[in-house]
Formats: sequence, structure tokens, C-alpha cells
Amino acid sequence: MHNDATMNTKQQTAYFTRAYAKINLTLDVLGKRPDGYHELATVMQAIDLSDTICLTETGDDQIHLTCTQEVLNTPGNLVVRAADVVRRRVGWRGGVHIELDKRIPFAAGLGGGSSDAAAVLMALQRWQGFTLAPAELLEMAASLGSDVPFFLHGGLALCEGRGERVTPLVPYWPASMRWLLLLKPAIGLSTPAVFRLVTPVDYTDGSHSRAVCDALASMCPPDPVHLHNSLEHIVLENYPDVALAYEAMRQAGAPIVRLCGSGPTLYAPFAELSLAQHTCDALQAQGFEVYVTRPV
Ligand code: C5P
Repeated sequence: MHNDATMNTKQQTAYFTRAYAKINLTLDVLGKRPDGYHELATVMQAIDLSDTICLTETGDDQIHLTCTQEVLNTPGNLVVRAADVVRRRVGWRGGVHIELDKRIPFAAGLGGGSSDAAAVLMALQRWQGFTLAPAELLEMAASLGSDVPFFLHGGLALCEGRGERVTPLVPYWPASMRWLLLLKPAIGLSTPAVFRLVTPVDYTDGSHSRAVCDALASMCPPDPVHLHNSLEHIVLENYPDVALAYEAMRQAGAPIVRLCGSGPTLYAPFAELSLAQHTCDALQAQGFEVYVTRPV
């Protein structure tokens, strides 16, 4: 999953790692919890759209960040918080410069920030030779965000609880969904803002996620009816830019269009690259930000 590499130069060792995005095949919101989070069942798949992270040692005892997206260049960035969590846990006093080449659209429902955090947790450990038990790593990941534990595994997984309880699934992916066309509408959405709009009528009993897990375990394509995201109609109804993008994807020939996480990114599965690319070109010509990608 994380094809890490070290590069030695005369001055310093650079440790490179990659952080992949995800899509949600399902997102069942089961109810609201006393702690304010929502109880979920969601089937997630990592996709071949990634950020690149480079770690280098510094002479001081600080965590420095340089991100290609200026607005993400803040001490609150999850990669800085991830490095801080590791330092506190293992008592490491060294300084690190984190360079983050951001390719995954952010505030997009693609899990980019969470994936970056998971990648830093794992990379620091390997780079500095810290030995953290898997349970410790999982606990640190969950403390950073509900989606972070998924990215310790990547691939295909069922995530439950607030998202942090991860069950890896046998990696089967239907040929009918081999290529994934992503469209990122020109707005960013905040996950808490979307979750605040959820009402009990949006709750499901988790049967969509169960049906998709069962279909994939039997190596069958899931029934599109079960590619259900409880947040999708909320986002489509409240954010006209997303509804417009959804319609544009359907008009351009995408047979199935679904929301990634809490949005606003939409994905459409295709069996053939030529069709995915054709649709991608048509949407790009209309000015949309689009990507053709695949599961990893
Ligand atoms: O866990 P994370 O920090 O990523 O969650 C961000 C916000 O999204 C939470 O504060 C909460 O408002 C919402 N959320 C939720 N239920 C979840 C996950 C996130 O309500 N299972």
C-alpha cells in the first residue's frame, strides 16, 4: 500500500511515502451517539489518487510543515498532529520537516487529510525504527480522526462505530466498476456541517453495507440499490453545485453516480477505460475538475 523509499544524500536522509484517497461504496448512518458522533457502517476502498509526503530530519526539536496547498500550511494540519502524537508516545525529541505534495482535493470527502495522517504515523515509525504495537497505532490513529484507522490498512474494508472499527475485506473488485471517474465540484464541504443536517429519517439499519459486503465476498457486483450513501440526498438538496455536477455526470453518460463520504466529490464507476475517459473529457470541457482513477 505505502511504497515508501529512502533517499540518502550527503546532508540528510529523506523518507518518502504516499497517501491514497478513498471512496465509499456505502455509507449507512445508523443513528446518533451520545458523544455527538454518528454510528456508521461504511464500505471504503482506497483509490489511486495520492499525496506524496517527504520526511527529513531537522537540527531542532520542532515539527515543520511545507504544503503545496498554502491554506493547509498550518500547525493544525493532521500531519503535524500525527507527528506530535508519535513524538509524545515514544518520547522522541528529534525535529522533522514534513513536505506534503497535495494532489488529493481537500474538504472533498476523499479522506485526504486522514490518509496523510495515517501515512505519517506509519512512516515516522519505519523511518525512525520505533516499535509501536498495532493496537497502539490504531488508538493513535483513532484519536486523530474517525477515518484515519482505515488508512492504516487501505484496500477494501468495512468501517463501523464512528468509522474507526475497521474490518479488512477480501480484496475483490467487480470488473463493471474497474475504472472510477471522480468529479470534485468547485466547493469544499465540512464533514461536521454535513453531519449536522442528518435527521432520523436518514438512518438505515446497515443493510446496504451488509449486502455490499456479502456481494463482494461472493465475488459478485453489488446491486446499485445498495451503493447507498445516507449523506448523498442531504448534500444534493443543500448544495446546488453538487446537484448540478451530479446531473452533468449523468448527462455525460455515467450510469451510476454516487457521493464520496460527506462530499462534495462524486464518483461514477465504469467497466472500460475508454468510456470513463470519454466521459471525463466531456465533463472537463464543461469546466469540471475530474479524475480517472482505479481502486488500489
Ligand atoms: O472524526 P472526525 O474528526 O473526522 O470527525 C469530524 C466530524 O464529523 C465530527 O466532529 C462529527 O461532527 C462528524 N462525524 C460524525 N460521525 C462520524 C464521523 C464524523 O458525526 N461517525
